[in-house]
Amino acid sequence: MKKIVFATNNKHKLDEIRKISEGKLEILSLNDINCRTDIPETGTTLEENALIKARFVKDNFGYDCFADDTGLEVKALDGAPGVYSARYAGEDCRAEDNIRKLLTNLEGISDRHAAFRTVIALLIGDEQYFFEGAIHGKIIDEKRGESGFGYDPVFVPDGYGQTFAELGEDTKNNISHRAIATTKLIRFLLKME
Ligand code: IMP
Repeated sequence: MKKIVFATNNKHKLDEIRKISEGKLEILSLNDINCRTDIPETGTTLEENALIKARFVKDNFGYDCFADDTGLEVKALDGAPGVYSARYAGEDCRAEDNIRKLLTNLEGISDRHAAFRTVIALLIGDEQYFFEGAIHGKIIDEKRGESGFGYDPVFVPDGYGQTFAELGEDTKNNISHRAIATTKLIRFLLKME
């Protein structure tokens, strides 16, 4: 079975990808390969950050590897918070701080269009590939729902009347930016087998 590292220790992401790959790939986490480094995300695009993480593992541990990076891109804010989504309100801030800043910056703005975008960088042998998934929707002006994380309580995907946080994990994981990118990656890897 093909062995590949996913440069993360995020349990949700690991569970999700193992589910999508239906046990046909052996997916190792950073912990599994004893990589204890907090790989700095110093890029200015999602592509760069994903590549930095995958490259770190490939160069230091020798494994084929993939890594992801995700951002919320809000049209009226020229694509912000984008690559800085995790630390929009400052280093080590909480999700609710980021949401508060986002809603403040969108006050009085009627164009609420936004998209979550995930980029996955894959380094396999000597080759490099990118996979992308996006979901479009709108930012509402108050938080609704309890599930999920990050900006989920204020993001309503197109075609739905509820936020990601109201729709719940199962529905979200079927339609999300990350699920789209991850499914493309897994199809590609299984075709290579
Ligand atoms: P990461 O690249 O997956 O770590 O995501 C970076 C940041 O984007 C997170 O810290 C969240 O603020 C935001 N984010 C990523 N994916 C989601 C999602 O599915 N829902 C809500 N926010 C997300």
